[in-house]
Amino acid sequence: MMKKFLIVANWKMSPETPARAKALFSGIKKAAARAKNAQTVVCPPALYLSSMATAGKNVAVGAQDVSYESDGTHTGEISARMLKAAGAKYVIIGHSERRARGETNGIVAKEIGAALKEKLIVILCIGERERDTHGEYFSFIESQLRESLAGIAKKDMGRLVIAYEPVWAIGEKAKEADTPEGTFEISLFIRKILATIIGKEKAFAVQILYGGSVNPNNAAVFLKRGGVQGLLVGRASLDARTFGEILKSASMTKNI
Ligand code: 13P
Repeated sequence: MMKKFLIVANWKMSPETPARAKALFSGIKKAAARAKNAQTVVCPPALYLSSMATAGKNVAVGAQDVSYESDGTHTGEISARMLKAAGAKYVIIGHSERRARGETNGIVAKEIGAALKEKLIVILCIGERERDTHGEYFSFIESQLRESLAGIAKKDMGRLVIAYEPVWAIGEKAKEADTPEGTFEISLFIRKILATIIGKEKAFAVQILYGGSVNPNNAAVFLKRGGVQGLLVGRASLDARTFGEILKSASMTKNI
């Protein structure tokens, strides 16, 4: 049986105050309780995690980044154990906004190792900066996958989610989201590469998400035709009603 769709809110560096974060979270919790056929994950700034740890029905919380160090003298870093203790079940790793600040596939691989050691579920973000006409983005994605997953043990694959987020489709500057057909092609490609790393059966079980300008108008189309089992949502997760509409369409769409 296929799992429920996984709908992840990446709040990035918002909202500005704990009070606003609390209000937004309580709105999302209500919407998530109604969206029974979807699993909701909210990833707030780490500072808000512990106040959100008592998540509601169908809702879990996650972090947006993790240190690959387990303890010691690392100013500003937060360890996987700390995230776990604060209530996080998931962690986004290798988001393009972190890669833009210098995170390499090698660093991402170490972060994945640290997160899995604490039994967090890893949402590994991959995606090309631009879609060239020669199809070079396929090899870019392949190396992101292979290098980021270099150290992963097969037994940990059940705690791995892949988020395909083409960088050109993310954020306010993005012209548009990918097409479901474009994402479908990439999702097959990702599964093919995964199969060579962990075997067909395990690769088939890994959930793949799409992210980049997801909104209530395109969410269902990606889930129906994009070959993905969930969505990673930025801007549209900062308004409870808008995110609630995405959850509703995910809950009503059949996961085949
Ligand atoms: P937007 O949904 O704002 O384009 O952001 C996507 C994203 O980066 C989610 O991680």
